[in-house]
Amino acid sequence: MLKLLNLGTVLSVVLIFLTGCTREKPRYVIGVSQCSEDIWREKQNAELRMGAYLQGNVELHFAAAYDSDERQIEQIDSLVNMGIDLLIVAPNQVATISPAIDRAFDKGIPVIVFERKTNSQKYTAFISADNYEMGRVMGEYIASQLNGKGRVMEIMGLKGSSPAIERHNGFADALKAYPGIEIVATLQGDWTEQSAYEATKQWIEREKKKEERGERNAGGIDYVFGQNDRMAMGARRAMQEVTTPLALWRGAGGEASRFCGIDGLPGEDGGIRLVRDSILDASYIYPTHGDKIIERAIDILEGKPYEKETHLMSALVTRDNARVLLMQTEEIMHQSDYLDQLHHRADNYLQELGTQRAITWLACAFTLLLLIVFVLFYMYHLSKVKLQHERVVNTLWNLKPEDVPTPPASEQPESQKDETQAKQQEDSDETEGKTDPTTTSIFITRFKEAVEARLDDSDVSVEDLAADMNLSRVQLYRKVKAVTGSSPVELLRTARLNRGYRLLLTSDLSISEVAYQVGFTAPSYFTKCFKDEFGLLPGDIKS
Ligand code: FRU
Repeated sequence: MLKLLNLGTVLSVVLIFLTGCTREKPRYVIGVSQCSEDIWREKQNAELRMGAYLQGNVELHFAAAYDSDERQIEQIDSLVNMGIDLLIVAPNQVATISPAIDRAFDKGIPVIVFERKTNSQKYTAFISADNYEMGRVMGEYIASQLNGKGRVMEIMGLKGSSPAIERHNGFADALKAYPGIEIVATLQGDWTEQSAYEATKQWIEREKKKEERGERNAGGIDYVFGQNDRMAMGARRAMQEVTTPLALWRGAGGEASRFCGIDGLPGEDGGIRLVRDSILDASYIYPTHGDKIIERAIDILEGKPYEKETHLMSALVTRDNARVLLMQTEEIMHQSDYLDQLHHRADNYLQELGTQRAITWLACAFTLLLLIVFVLFYMYHLSKVKLQHERVVNTLWNLKPEDVPTPPASEQPESQKDETQAKQQEDSDETEGKTDPTTTSIFITRFKEAVEARLDDSDVSVEDLAADMNLSRVQLYRKVKAVTGSSPVELLRTARLNRGYRLLLTSDLSISEVAYQVGFTAPSYFTKCFKDEFGLLPGDIKS
């Protein structure tokens, strides 16, 4: 039983090992540290996942810092500590995140910085669209829309983040060429819609107060440049809430202010649709290209040649091209949704395959276990047969008379003492023989001969045996019982069964033939007695 248990344990371990092996070890583990979480990053994360999927067996670990430097530093350190093969990072602010990136790089982990810059040279590759160029193109666009004359406001992204600095520089540089354009205000946001809404609201309040004090206020704004679409929308919301004085958000010429942003995302709330629907006047596509970033990562990890600095292509979105761009980008989104679904389907198939494989292993192991149990049981059965055989050999029938214990008179039970005394009176010779080994031996031999001579006679009775030995039935009974502890009938049956056992082993006779031959009138009764005597069926010996 212990052996079986041990076997079971071994099989379970093997099974756990086998099912554990069905999940492949990832080829590369890549950490992605995002500075924030918004629709632009969601799109990019989806592309990163898709890229990883297409590359095959690449595991991505995402962390989002929600615009917090401290959180992003912690997240980078813990990604590094978990043993990633490569780090992809969009640093929240230029200066603050650099030391954490340097630490990763110094540990030999390749680093891809994307979209936002660090102030260190410790990175392996940099991928981004040109933020300065975007700000510059937006400045040129607004100036051309205003024919070089008008009033503009800029809402900047998070202080200290490289796109905010570069977009501002590009915008300001472009407008320098247009002295007729006045930058009325440069407000500070943090890339969120709410930050732009609040900054604009406060600015409006300040301007209102100026007017109340009789001072000259900023007057109407022709264009608001939000450094991203979300902030452009936040500023628009704040200005729409102002009812008086209307001039604050009216263009200088009396028309409504226009709003421009950057990102130009496809989809429901994306900038392209907002431009098409004339909610924004223009946007600029800020490419996400997560798939390209993964390709670059794999090139680096596999030691292939790669560009250290990559500028992604980008384009201005205006009312003229918004419809076409929307069609194209939404078609691409559609296709990538299909890919995503295919990906999920393939994943499900793989999962099912893994489960089926585990079940197959389980079934095999179970069958093997059953087989082993069966073999062990069979071996146990054989050994039992053998033991039984030995037992038969050692039964009374094979005992030598001197092995038969003769209990001293003092140890005999009272009833037996009485019987013995009665017998002593009846037959003093025989009583002496009970304690004399030679006489006992002669008696057993005679009794064996008498029984064996009658074995095939099913009608033989104890009287017949007693008569054969010149004894009365009672004398025979008492003597046999005293010497062997069994009655003559029991011994007769044992003798028959022993003979049957030997015949089954050594002859070609059938079970019924054997039963009749050893004096049983019914083979079924022979089988029952045989089972009681040896714990086996006659068929067990025969087969
Ligand atoms: C997304 C985002 C974009 C913006 C960029 C600047 O997190 O805020 O809207 O263009 O980051 O880094």
